Amino acid sequence: MNKLLFVLLSALIVFGCCNDSDSNVIKTKIPPRAKGQTDVLQLSCEPIPVVRVAFIGLGMRGSEAVKRYTFLEGVEIKALCDLYPERVEEAQKTLADKNLPAAYGYSGEDGWKQVCERDDIDLIYLCTPWLKHTPMAVYAMEHGKHVAIEVPAATTLDECWQLVNTAEITRKHCMMLENCCYDFFEMATLNMAQHGLFGEVMHVEGSYIHDLRFLNFASEQEGGYQGYWRLKYNIAHGGNPYPTHGLGPVCQILNIHRGDKMNYLVSLSSAQKGMSEYAAGKFGKGTSLADTTYALGDMNTTLIRTEKGKSILIQHDVTSPRPYDRHHLISGTKGFARKYPKQELAFDPNAHKSMGGEEFDNFLKEWEHPLTKEIGEKARMVGGHGGMDFIMDYRLIYCLHNGLPLDEDVYDAAEWSAIIALSEISAGNNSVPVEIPDFTRGAWDKIKGFNLAVK
Ligand SMILES: NC(=O)c1ccc[n+]([C@@H]2O[C@H](COP(=O)([O-])OP(=O)(O)OC[C@H]3O[C@@H](n4cnc5c(N)ncnc54)[C@H](O)[C@@H]3O)[C@@H](O)[C@H]2O)c1
Repeated sequence: MNKLLFVLLSALIVFGCCNDSDSNVIKTKIPPRAKGQTDVLQLSCEPIPVVRVAFIGLGMRGSEAVKRYTFLEGVEIKALCDLYPERVEEAQKTLADKNLPAAYGYSGEDGWKQVCERDDIDLIYLCTPWLKHTPMAVYAMEHGKHVAIEVPAATTLDECWQLVNTAEITRKHCMMLENCCYDFFEMATLNMAQHGLFGEVMHVEGSYIHDLRFLNFASEQEGGYQGYWRLKYNIAHGGNPYPTHGLGPVCQILNIHRGDKMNYLVSLSSAQKGMSEYAAGKFGKGTSLADTTYALGDMNTTLIRTEKGKSILIQHDVTSPRPYDRHHLISGTKGFARKYPKQELAFDPNAHKSMGGEEFDNFLKEWEHPLTKEIGEKARMVGGHGGMDFIMDYRLIYCLHNGLPLDEDVYDAAEWSAIIALSEISAGNNSVPVEIPDFTRGAWDKIKGFNLAVK
């Protein structure tokens, strides 16, 4: 048996996939839609004049989300929940400092279930560790709640399908909180792309390159993640476990499942050295964390091809001493943009050189997205990654107030999160191509173009 066939057959056994007889693409199972179940593209629900929110998970991210929500109009923070009661108390102080009424408090491993079971909550906002996102989101939707989930929404293909099926059955919103879609430069380039400034966009890039070694290896007492959840995931999994910050903004530019779709990927990881070196430095050679086998390579590079022939490059590296980088690169037939290491714009016929100085500043101002024009100043004041987090919060609540479809729907959540499992399959099998399932099950071309809904 030749080597490739052996690899494919192994992958079939391990992942329950089937390979296309006409090509070497690994295909994963697409569960058929149940009879009577329909898609939730452009889902609009009854307007909610005052959105009653419950936060579950009040660590680094959740506690900041509570603070931001105190700046929103038409919101009531109804419930606060964390594993640890002291984190709930800390968040109650945030409300008290703003003279807001105390929320109902829940704690313990299963307190979140009682939150979802309440009948006075519209939106469950999840900021828990990755492996808890989908079970909590599914339960919340099954109990009649809209759900907003921190990134990534899911870590396995089965979880991605659970989110899609539950949203389709319950007709509830399921948004993954991909905040990078709302950053100022990303929104400006979306605006430029939608006005044809880049011509036809043929290639895009995104990444998550963020030296997280300190946080990954810090105990809770040192300010790290609760119970080392992220490090544990990195020990167990290869591929790209955190693709959505880079992918979300460029998928919106490419109109993914709004006229185009991601067809397949190939993924390659470097060997792992950075984590064990860091662990040896912190804990000493011969300690368990230094000697642990980390499945996560230092750098993962994934390439995606779309139905319309566009290419996407996504990278992940959380262990190398490098400046923070999300790429955000757009290359079209008429122009180019890149955010890192410094913001650049270049257009025909002068594209060999980036715009500079005043010309660049004026151009960026001229093409600022209407949304950041509207709320950007307040967002910068409230904060949250320079304001993008608050812009995201504002949009989510605006859409719920007005009964509008959300900017990021359950198919975005599934498509962007699915890269985790699919890149792991490819990178673990000599970079074989793996099909990216169409989570809309045939409706990827029904909506023509990505747009923010307005009343
Ligand atoms: N979008 C962004 O820019 C961004 C930034 C940072 C983190 N995140 C995401 O936010 C999420 C949380 O990350 P974090 O940095 O806050 O981690 P964290 O470890 O600081 O917080 C997680 C919290 O969840 C709580 N928790 C765990 N199990 C629970 C349960 N059963 N019930 C209730 N609470 C429970 C923990 O006690 C902890 O307080 C992750 O998905 C992460 O990827 C996103």
